[in-house]
Amino acid sequence: MISLAAGDPNFLLPDYIANAVNNAIKIGQTHYCFGGDPELKAEIAKYYSKYGYETNPGQVAITAGGSESIFKSYAAILDEGDEVIAFDPAYSGGTMAPAYFGAKTVYANLKKRDDGFFDFDEEALKNAISSKTKGLYVENPGNPSGKVYGKKECKVIADLANDHDFIVFSDETYTEYIWTGADHFPIITLPGMENRVIVAQAMTKMFAWAGMRTGWVIAGPELAPYVQRAPGAGASWPIQRGCLVGLRDGYQFVLDMRKEYEERIDYAVKRLNDMPGVKCPKPEGAFYPFADVTGTGMTCTEFVQGLQKETKVRAVPGGGYGKGAGAGSVRFSMIRPLSNTTMLSWFEHKEGMMLEDAMDRIEKFVLSHA
Ligand SMILES: Cc1ncc(COP(=O)(O)O)c(C=O)c1O
Repeated sequence: MISLAAGDPNFLLPDYIANAVNNAIKIGQTHYCFGGDPELKAEIAKYYSKYGYETNPGQVAITAGGSESIFKSYAAILDEGDEVIAFDPAYSGGTMAPAYFGAKTVYANLKKRDDGFFDFDEEALKNAISSKTKGLYVENPGNPSGKVYGKKECKVIADLANDHDFIVFSDETYTEYIWTGADHFPIITLPGMENRVIVAQAMTKMFAWAGMRTGWVIAGPELAPYVQRAPGAGASWPIQRGCLVGLRDGYQFVLDMRKEYEERIDYAVKRLNDMPGVKCPKPEGAFYPFADVTGTGMTCTEFVQGLQKETKVRAVPGGGYGKGAGAGSVRFSMIRPLSNTTMLSWFEHKEGMMLEDAMDRIEKFVLSHA
């Protein structure tokens, strides 16, 4: 089986991370670390300032990954009966969690373009706003949409948030992986937004350590105490020390992954577009080519189920990311290496199991059905 399903990157972490974690254990950083490691919080504040928002460690809360960042943000804000708007399609961890707080997710469809790309639809967002709207969940860049919201679109969202008095839950998990050449634009910097935005980030994708469970939340000075008070597991202290070293000294690793991801995306997008009935726009950000397969005559679910059964390649049907606006598209996670890679994976690179092989299998499947 070749899985292109979950967003769990293949990369093996550099040794200095293991050494930092090991050293933290050796010197006794195995006790409570109430409120999070102060050095790490300072490093996170410094890291985020590169996007143009000057923050301080007091505005940062450490979490056990992106999911907890989202959950903690919701816990701080949502009450029973509230509504959270989410785009459709959008990451299910963000769209399903409001229900835990008795809140309802209301979907605003993204607009599917002719090339299969899901774009921002201002009207759909406006139509989704009601007197119960407490927040908007937006992943920037989007998963699975690959949509990157630049300053212009963030301004539209910010104006609506200010006018209708709601919070923006800004999931900024993939800010290091933008393919348009633009820098990430932080919505928290717009007028009136500092105490209206809660930023969720994680090392999960940025540093390829899904299983190390480390993330954080950044909020303006008025909101931050509420977010910090919301219960959560946080990250263990030794892992926080590894995170500190990664953020401080490990940026080359991010740059190397960035280069490799883009090669994979460009390769997969080309291969998918060459298949009959498949249209695959290059994502603007994140690492999930999201291909429109309606031209093959199969639904996205039939496509994914058939692909798995007949060729042992796993992918994710787009219809599951919301109420169904993403139906007809299939998400392919770029977590398999190309055969010319020089970066190590946590598994052995075997012939027949690389990204090229996955694409060969998908092509065979499409040719036999389309
Ligand atoms: C947009 C987005 N936010 C958050 C997460 C959750 O990350 P974590 O595994 O750190 O909980 C993911 C994971 O796929 C994601 O795609």
